Amino acid sequence: MSLPPVKVLFDENRIAARNRELASEISAAAPENLLVIAVLKGSFVFAADLIRALHASGQTPEMEFLHLSSYRDATVSSGQVDILRDVQSEVRGRDVLLVDDILESGRTLAFAKDLLAARGARRVLVCVLLEKPGKRAVQIDADFIGFECPDYFVVGYGMDVAHAFRQLPFIGVVEQLD
Ligand code: IMP
Ligand code: MG
Repeated sequence: MSLPPVKVLFDENRIAARNRELASEISAAAPENLLVIAVLKGSFVFAADLIRALHASGQTPEMEFLHLSSYRDATVSSGQVDILRDVQSEVRGRDVLLVDDILESGRTLAFAKDLLAARGARRVLVCVLLEKPGKRAVQIDADFIGFECPDYFVVGYGMDVAHAFRQLPFIGVVEQLD
């Protein structure tokens, strides 16, 4: 299958360097009994790199996954968040680091944050690879942000459009073919 070309926005080296910085920032927050929860699917590549950067900065996180869906196949948010797969571990009393790919309207992360707080997490910290400023529909801020993202639909490094491009090692923008 032939796919349209993707223009690089953040390359591999830049992402790796930023991940090391993020791990230091997270370590500076002195997390206790740290449970990293990756919001699937878009954050799986970022989360995999981030926990190894956390290891390099002396952390001993456990890893969980929360599969939420608010997007389906469209590039426009539906506004509704569904739990497709829940975390298996106890979160009560623990420091949780929620990891997601993009903070846009904020609905996905606000939902996840409320859910984990309601289950008794000691702290719910939020780390996003990208933030799209000026797009928030609900009030939520990330504690750790990889990069400010221009208002494009981005793909790669785990992120998709209609299931394509997750395998790209960089973050990019699909080029228009017209
Ligand atoms: P929010 O609930 O509007 O903040 O939705 C954020 C989620 O929408 C992200 O976790 C992504 O899964 C998806 N998303 C938003 N913008 C993009 C994009 O540019 N590319 C790929 N996925 C996106
Ligand atoms: Mg997502």
